Amino acid sequence: MKKNLSIIILAAGAGTRMKSTTPKVLHTISGKPMLYYSILESLKLSDDITVVIYHQAQRVQSSMEQFFQKELETGQLKFVVQDHENYPGTGGAVMNITPTHEKTLVLNADMPLIQASELEKFDIDATIVMSVLELDSADGYGRVVVENGNVVKIVEQKDANEQELAITTANAGIYQFDTQFLLEHLPKLNNNNAQKEYYITDLVEMAINQGLSLKPLAVSVENFKGVNSKVELSQAEVIHQNRIKEAFLKQGVIMRLPDTIYIEYGVQIEGESILENGVTLLGNSKLINAHIKTNSVVEDSVVEDSDVGPMGRVRPGSVLKDTHIGNFVETKKAKLTGVKAGHLSYLGDCEIDEGTNIGCGTITCNYDGMNKHQTIIGKNVFVGSDTQLVAPVTIEDDVIIAAGSTITKNISKGSLAITRAPLKVIKDYFYKFFNK
Ligand code: UD1
Ligand code: CA
Repeated sequence: MKKNLSIIILAAGAGTRMKSTTPKVLHTISGKPMLYYSILESLKLSDDITVVIYHQAQRVQSSMEQFFQKELETGQLKFVVQDHENYPGTGGAVMNITPTHEKTLVLNADMPLIQASELEKFDIDATIVMSVLELDSADGYGRVVVENGNVVKIVEQKDANEQELAITTANAGIYQFDTQFLLEHLPKLNNNNAQKEYYITDLVEMAINQGLSLKPLAVSVENFKGVNSKVELSQAEVIHQNRIKEAFLKQGVIMRLPDTIYIEYGVQIEGESILENGVTLLGNSKLINAHIKTNSVVEDSVVEDSDVGPMGRVRPGSVLKDTHIGNFVETKKAKLTGVKAGHLSYLGDCEIDEGTNIGCGTITCNYDGMNKHQTIIGKNVFVGSDTQLVAPVTIEDDVIIAAGSTITKNISKGSLAITRAPLKVIKDYFYKFFNK
């Protein structure tokens, strides 16, 4: 792929319309901050990417550092702080950046649905290539004023007159500039507008007035939707989720009522896995020929040739292989191979081996109030219902644990373990007690 393109991502805005203490670009879509997707797609197209930050700059930068360490080290990706006090606005954001390539693509970071394949369409020879949305209502967007079939200028909603407000052609907010033009004209921007900001959109009118070439590129909301509020955040996530699910369906995953299923970006599914309604798959989970039943949650875990649920919860660090996890069973950092745990159990910080049956109500007591401890259970162990395993504890192969036992010591191979108060039966006690 040729990478003779510079990219500037605008992520400095306060995002007041989100009504949140979290910076807008860190609000998540399918489990990742919006800005993550802008950077991810940009990396496919450019070796010169600058992210402009200002509001909660440190927080935004640290959040991205955890994903893009390598690219920051090589210099493919850079952060620049906007001189927001003196030059607020989308125009102010691109000042003081010197792109290294002939063409510069400018992206708003609040467009999480953007894909590199769509951005490649801006590769047109013109002074400015701008993205245009045809909408039922352009509310919230800058309006594109067109006269005699030609773009004249972009008017922001807050500056628009009644006639301009009625326009349904919107500026989607992505532009490709001739870098030379951009550098020469940025200093000419002014802030004579309702928001007292320097608008990048004013460059459009400047180019037109000078008779330079401007190419409007028609784009769709599916890819170019802007997120300014929590309503739009939720709408964008629906589109993003549908994209993720459609890709898995095409790949052979079976989904019952896909609209009720939530799959974060980063989840992998292989083989003929089945997802029933209400399933949630989070983090970097990996499913291989798995059957996840109604309303179960799998987070940062591996589920291979196994079934979970309905209403199972597989928490981070679990690795299930040839295993059956039934309703109301919770696992965490549990390595289960060939295990059956049908009902109502907590299996945390444990390793359990083939042929072992975990009775209903079994609990690995992994936490002593200060530290977490391991439970190791061997092969073919029969763990009776309502057993508590006080960790650290090891149960060797071929052990039987009687129902209701509290296991505080290691149990050797082939043994029966039973802790039980002797059963007492008092005849006719009921009648005496209730005087009947
Ligand atoms: C902008 C466009 C509008 C377009 C819309 C598309 C301008 C003046 N308006 O409006 O025509 O229809 O996007 O979604 O450009 N930002 C900075 N520094 C700032 C201000 C903003 O980096 O000083 C960043 C924001 O973080 C955001 C992006 O620029 O990612 C857009 O800013 P926002 O305030 O959302 O612009 P809109 O009002 O949506
Ligand atoms: Ca916006």
